[in-house]
Amino acid sequence: MGKFVKVAARSEIAPGTAKKVEVNGKEVAVFHIDGRFYAIGETCPHRGGPLSEGTVEEKVVTCPWHGWQFDVTDGVSPVNPAAKVDCYPVKLEGDDVTVSDTSV
Ligand code: FES
Repeated sequence: MGKFVKVAARSEIAPGTAKKVEVNGKEVAVFHIDGRFYAIGETCPHRGGPLSEGTVEEKVVTCPWHGWQFDVTDGVSPVNPAAKVDCYPVKLEGDDVTVSDTSV
């Protein structure tokens, strides 16, 4: 299961926004949607766009560079399942948002 690393306080990631964090040297995008937090790889597999800067609708983030989309709950593209980013378990511990250093 990997080790959970504190990446932010809950209040640092407002609802409907995301934050780029680092977990053991890996860049991870953490999203706050409807009271829940989700973590996927920050880097779009197309050309490296920053997914934490993408727009989110429902639970799908759209890359700000050329529009590839990924489900934040599993990292998989709803359009092309072959396109995906890593997905990391998130745990809330008190006011802390923690992310596993091991993807699922
Ligand atoms: S870099 Fe993300 S869609 Fe091109």
